[in-house]
Amino acid sequence: MESCHDSIIILDFGSQYTQLIARRIRESHVHSIILPASATLETIRACQPKGIVFSGGPASVTETVTPSWSSEVLTEGVPVLGICYGMQLVAHHMGGQVGKAARREFGRAELTVLDPSDLFQGIAVERPFPVWMSHGDRIETLPPGFTIIAQTANSPIAAMKLVNGSKRFYCLQFHPEVVHTTNGTRILKNFVYDICGCQPTWTMGSFLKATVEDIQKRVGTGRVLCALSGGVDSAVAAAMTYRAVGKQLTCVCIDNGLLRKEEAAQLQKAFASYDGLNFRMVDASSEFLTALARVVDPERKRKIIGRQFIKLFEAEAKRMGDVSFLVQGTLYPDVIESVSFKGPSATIKTHHNVGGLPSRMKLKLIEPLRELFKDEVRALGKELSLPDDLLFRHPFPGPGLAIRILGAVTPERLAMLREADAIVLQEIRQFGLYRDLWQAFAVLLPIRTVGVMGDQRTYEHVVAVRAVKSVDGMTADWAKLPHELLETLANRIINEVNGVNRVVYDISSKPPGTIEWE
Ligand code: XMP
Repeated sequence: MESCHDSIIILDFGSQYTQLIARRIRESHVHSIILPASATLETIRACQPKGIVFSGGPASVTETVTPSWSSEVLTEGVPVLGICYGMQLVAHHMGGQVGKAARREFGRAELTVLDPSDLFQGIAVERPFPVWMSHGDRIETLPPGFTIIAQTANSPIAAMKLVNGSKRFYCLQFHPEVVHTTNGTRILKNFVYDICGCQPTWTMGSFLKATVEDIQKRVGTGRVLCALSGGVDSAVAAAMTYRAVGKQLTCVCIDNGLLRKEEAAQLQKAFASYDGLNFRMVDASSEFLTALARVVDPERKRKIIGRQFIKLFEAEAKRMGDVSFLVQGTLYPDVIESVSFKGPSATIKTHHNVGGLPSRMKLKLIEPLRELFKDEVRALGKELSLPDDLLFRHPFPGPGLAIRILGAVTPERLAMLREADAIVLQEIRQFGLYRDLWQAFAVLLPIRTVGVMGDQRTYEHVVAVRAVKSVDGMTADWAKLPHELLETLANRIINEVNGVNRVVYDISSKPPGTIEWE
């Protein structure tokens, strides 16, 4: 794909930061391709890279079991940038010595640049600047021909290079891709522009065009099914596929009865303008509610909902008859968790709702967003003219309101939560805070408390309000919402939602709390 752009390959040795390297390169408008460390030389050559980055990773070159990789790439005459483990790998293969650092180094270090050319060009190097370290090994002896280009107190060889004819190797012990490394972006730009000679031609528009062509080529005259969840990712993936194959696409939205207020209708509206799109809203609420009757355990709820989804999609695919492709809005952070070489985050998310779908249904997967991050997906959605209220919508879990009703899910409790949730979102929007938050929602608790309304004693339900700030959902801080907002929320919920007489605000962060309550 994208042969019209200069490309950089990132060989992934399992670093939690591989995705960030790719992103920084894209931000420099250069196309990047992530390949697993084990990619063959043939695969690497087929991408015609102008440079190769070796990512960091959890392995140690001093151990016997290390990721397999094609060391012949070192003799391809393409510039190489080794980062952290990638640096140690280059050093080890080129005849240097790597050993355990006397002191493991995690976090900030002050980098002193010894050679201000190449990688450090254009950077004010008169004084040391902060860089982000995360390593247990370090280079003890330089490989022949290499020179030290930067150091820190704990790493006398914090950066090194070898430039000799067609051999161009640059290695960094620190991580230029993380925001904590001052000048990190400039260092990567120096590598991709000046050392590799890449032209900055990659844009979201060019990505869209190339991906649409790619989908057309793959699908041919085949038929494609897309499961719309109401979220950003599946909507953007669907809109992109529609642009590629039009009427060959069928979008199915399963209304499981666990969606937020007016969500199904909003989704239908967003896709209504797509001329000739096959859009099916399947009302399966009663099936889901029957299956969930009296179920209290959160994991059982999730499993039941997952199973129902699969059953209904299978039925839809069968109804379509000759469908052979399934579109999924899988994002890069989801991909890396599954393909990384013993990646540290390999099993963090067990809750990916449609995970079980494809293999059982024997459908070929189309995942047009698998290289992107959430905010890039939003930018792509803008290119596709999707409405802002869909693109900037907070994430919503696959099992929906069922995991925000603690205890059994009933139509009455769903109605209560839906109303309370709508008030929370309405007021947060009103205060102009919606986009500052990762998520905000209401949770219905399985307890009742005593209150007084008018002169009457009440004994009713409790709603908890949750609002968090987060970058990726992996960690989160509870949001310090203004007291007037909290007051308005509580007043409105208690006055307008029948059956609720108390509102509490959740002040737990993640970890140790999770964002959802179940
Ligand atoms: P937790 O509760 O694990 O949630 O802190 C992290 C993020 O993931 C969302 N979430 C889900 N998303 N299916 C999804 O697609 C699920 O089963 C699921 N469970 C949690 C949650 O809303 C938050 O954004």
